[in-house]
Amino acid sequence: MELLETRREAPEALMGAEQDRVVRRQTRVAELQEQVARLAETMRIAVVFGGNKHVPGAVINPTFNPRHWKSYEAVAEDIAAALRRIGFRYVITIPDDMSLGHQLRRHQIHFAWLNTGGVQGLGSVSHAAAMLEMFGIPYVGHSPLSAATMDNKQVMKRDLMIAGVPTAPFMVWQPNRGPLTPGQNPRLEKAFGAYDGPFIVKPISGRASRFVVAVDHADGLAATAEGIYNATQNPVLIESYLSGREFCVAVCGEVIARQGQLERLGHPFAFAVIERVLDQDERVFTSMDHRPITTDRVRCLDRKRESDLYDKLVTMARSIYEEFELETLIRLDVRADDKGDLYVLEANPKPDLAAAAENRTSIVGAGLKNEGMSYDDLILSLIADRIDVLFSQRRAVVSHLDSLLN
Ligand SMILES: Nc1ncnc2c1ncn2[C@@H]1O[C@H](COP(=O)(O)OP(=O)(O)O)[C@@H](O)[C@H]1O
Ligand SMILES: [Mg+2]
Repeated sequence: MELLETRREAPEALMGAEQDRVVRRQTRVAELQEQVARLAETMRIAVVFGGNKHVPGAVINPTFNPRHWKSYEAVAEDIAAALRRIGFRYVITIPDDMSLGHQLRRHQIHFAWLNTGGVQGLGSVSHAAAMLEMFGIPYVGHSPLSAATMDNKQVMKRDLMIAGVPTAPFMVWQPNRGPLTPGQNPRLEKAFGAYDGPFIVKPISGRASRFVVAVDHADGLAATAEGIYNATQNPVLIESYLSGREFCVAVCGEVIARQGQLERLGHPFAFAVIERVLDQDERVFTSMDHRPITTDRVRCLDRKRESDLYDKLVTMARSIYEEFELETLIRLDVRADDKGDLYVLEANPKPDLAAAAENRTSIVGAGLKNEGMSYDDLILSLIADRIDVLFSQRRAVVSHLDSLLN
C-alpha cells in the first residue's frame, strides 16, 4: 500500500544533535506511516454528523437551537469517501444524537471523526466530544472544553485578550442586563468609551454569518440586539466594526501528508491563508447558506508578494494553536481595521471540509493546492496527526487500538 512508503532526508548534511533529532523524527514518521496503514485495514471509523432533533428517538424532548443548526451530513460523506480512498476499509457515517453510544457499539466502532455542530441545546458543538470521552472512543475533533470555548465568542475573545491576541472591543448583552441605551448602560461606555459606531451585533454562538448585523450608531443597538436575542435565546455579542479587509487562515497539527506521504513539520501547520473577497457595500460576509463559496470569493494570498500580511496571519494562527493547546484543525476569521491592523473575529472549531466541486469550494480546501496537497492529503493529515497525538500522549485512550496493531 502507498501509505507504507516513506521519504527520507539525506542525513550526511546534518551534524550531531540536529542529526539525532531529524533521525528520531524520521523514524517516528516512518513508524506512524506504518501504524496508519495497519490501522486502515482494521480500525472501524464512524464519521459523525449533526443529528436532527425531529427524527424520532434522536432526543427525549426537542428543545431549541441557540446555535443555528445544520446537519453537515454531506460533508461527513465527503470525509468518509476520502478516508475510503486513502485505504480505510471500514468507514460509516452516523448522526450525533441520543443513539450515538448504541450506534457506536452496534457497529463496533473503534474511532470517530466529529463533523457535527450538535443536535440542540447549549454548547451543542461540544456534546459529541463529551459523549465520546465518556464512551472511551478516540476521535478527530476538539476536546469538549476547546470546542465549547471556541464556539462561545465571548469566552474565546476573553481568552484571546489574555493571550495578547488582538480582538475588537466588545460587550455582551441579554435582557436581564438592563436597557441597551446610550447613557443608561455603563457597560456600553466601559466597552466602547466615546466610540459611537458602526458596530457589529451577532449571536454569541453562531455560524455562517447567521443573524450577524451591522449597526451604524449606538442608538440602533437595542432593537437589533433584542431581535438576535429573540432568535437565539442566548446572550448577544456587540463589538466595534472593523472596516478593513477580511482574511481566513487554517491551522492544524504538525503531522501532514503530501501525495500520501507523512511529514512532521516541528510546528503547527498554518495554511489556506486567504482573503475573503467582499463586494462593495458588503459589510458582513454573506452567509454560505445564501451564497455558496465560489472560487472568486476566496483569494489565496501570495506568500512572496504579500509576505508581510501572509507571515502575520501564519504567526497568529500557529501561536493560537499552541497557546490554546489545540489538537486539531481550526479556521481563524480575521479582519483588519482602517489602518490595516489585524483582529481575530473568531476561531471556528469545525471549519467546512466540503470537497471541492465545480465552481464551489471551501475556504480551507481553496488553500490546499498552494501546499502541494489534495483534499485526501488533508484528511490523511488530520487522522494521522490525531493518531500520532493519541499514541504519544494519550495511550490510555487508545489501548483498544493496540490489539489492532499487533
Ligand atoms: N467586528 C466586526 N467587524 C466587521 N465585520 C465583522 C465583525 N464581526 C463579524 N463581522 C462580519 O460578519 C461575519 C461573520 O462573523 P463571525 O464573527 O465570523 O461569525 P460567524 O462566522 O460564526 O457567523 C464575518 O465574516 C465578517 O464579515
Ligand atoms: Mg466566521
